[in-house]
Amino acid sequence: MSKRFYLTTAIDYVNGQPHLGHAYEKIITDVIARARRALGEEVFFLTGLDEHGQKVQQAAHAESKTPQAYCDELAVSWKSFAAKLSLTNDDFVRTTEPRHQEVVQAILTKLHASGHFYKTEYKGFYSTKEETFLTDKDRRPDGTFDPSFGEVIELIEENFNFRLNAHQAWLIDYIESNPGFISPAHRRNEILGFLKNNTLEDLCITRPASRLNWGIPLPFDPNFVTYVWFDALVNYISIPAAHGDPVVLAALGLPNSALRPPPSALPLWPADLHVIGKDISKFHAVYWPIMLKAMGLPLPKQLLVHGWWQKDGAKISKSTGNVVDPLAVIDEWGLDAFRFYVVRELDIGPDGNWTDAGFQSRYQAELANGLGNLINRSLSMLKRYRTGVVPLRSDELAADAQKFSQAAVECLQNCQLQTALEEIWKLVNRANQYVDQTAPFKLAKDPAQTARLDEVLYNLAEVCRVLAVLLAPFLPETSEKIYAQLGLGALSGKFEASAWGGLKTGHTIGEPAPLFPRKDQPK
Ligand code: ME8
Ligand code: MG
Repeated sequence: MSKRFYLTTAIDYVNGQPHLGHAYEKIITDVIARARRALGEEVFFLTGLDEHGQKVQQAAHAESKTPQAYCDELAVSWKSFAAKLSLTNDDFVRTTEPRHQEVVQAILTKLHASGHFYKTEYKGFYSTKEETFLTDKDRRPDGTFDPSFGEVIELIEENFNFRLNAHQAWLIDYIESNPGFISPAHRRNEILGFLKNNTLEDLCITRPASRLNWGIPLPFDPNFVTYVWFDALVNYISIPAAHGDPVVLAALGLPNSALRPPPSALPLWPADLHVIGKDISKFHAVYWPIMLKAMGLPLPKQLLVHGWWQKDGAKISKSTGNVVDPLAVIDEWGLDAFRFYVVRELDIGPDGNWTDAGFQSRYQAELANGLGNLINRSLSMLKRYRTGVVPLRSDELAADAQKFSQAAVECLQNCQLQTALEEIWKLVNRANQYVDQTAPFKLAKDPAQTARLDEVLYNLAEVCRVLAVLLAPFLPETSEKIYAQLGLGALSGKFEASAWGGLKTGHTIGEPAPLFPRKDQPK
């Protein structure tokens, strides 16, 4: 192992409360992080908050707070949200932290010194809501701008721009010769189409402090602050720098003295995976690679672009009240039910649709009747017929368990989380079918079938154990509960533990208890 598996989520705008879309992205990234650890890799998982920019300044102003006080308050609830989702992130970045700001300023200084920026005057139409200048392409046929841009004003201002034209050709080549760089493929094609059919316009990387002061000051001109996207993208390397990552420190010429990386820590950069939503793929697939190239840093290995959730077929929106409150769902149904639904329902790529009925039906069919029932009846029968003592080892389901485990682990290696769950549920279904076929409740009534009942009970209990190991990245609480009910203590956290035969003859299991209580009341 020469580096850690380094993966990130987008950092969320702090203006507002976390919603389903934020929760989804963080959960899929957490599943991948947990799976990588289970595969034996050292992992560094980063998430956090994007705290600068006009939206935050406006939101703070609306509440008569300073932007910093506003961010500090909201950061508390976002951090507790991450904990509520049981994210296993290794750090949590806030872009207002000095450790981040210093790196942003070091990069600006370096790129300015090497001639990547120039100053110009720009006159144009500006959407304050979207924090962006609009072009004629944004006009409707009648010449007006769409109301979704909010208030549009005409502005003349000076700014610093980042020259991009020299970067277009190599970036196209890079994306074409590294087909895995942007996943799924149709997102890659979108970006390639954009790059091939347009001339890249230089990127405006500042805002005049007179108009917007909630940003990182430009180190070489106090009249400007850094454009929020330039600032935000840098989080992916500022935190490695703060952890003493040698690759980032060397490229940026930063001293390592004040930073104390643990002596055993493996390098982080380049990132293995940036998990992001479809709306921000251009920032990550065009601007970010160019920024890195200009700094002399290697590019991340993969951008994994997920789709967007709707609710009941309509856009999630606070103003229309069409929202899913992740915390309310978790409080009512449990964290694992929520984690399960979002990963099982929506593959990484397409858009998804949340319906309460769909959620409840998966809970009932797959969790309560599928997994929960299997675990509960398997362990209850072992308790009832064998006083909870594991009988002689039997390998009747070993081949199936191995086949589905292997398939699930392969899917996890490729970030195919939904398919991995489908493979795991093949084992759940196989084992439930095995109960029906072998009918242990009948065997128990026939003294001549004692040895056969031993075999069946061993196979079922061992499948429960294997499932706990495989499910751990997805349903961490449930996996721990299954292990506790098996009387096994803590999980090792490694997929190796799914090898058949881990349950030893003579071991006494713990107390079975329902994992997913039935909720028969229609809501
Ligand atoms: O874009 N379904 O922050 P953000 C799925 N700060 N994902 C969704 C979603 C939905 N309905 N709504 C939002 C930003 N997301 C920047 C990122 S990264 C250097 C800076 C996803 O709070 C969205 O696609 O608007 C993005 O990946 C993430 O939530 C944060 O969105
Ligand atoms: Mg957004």
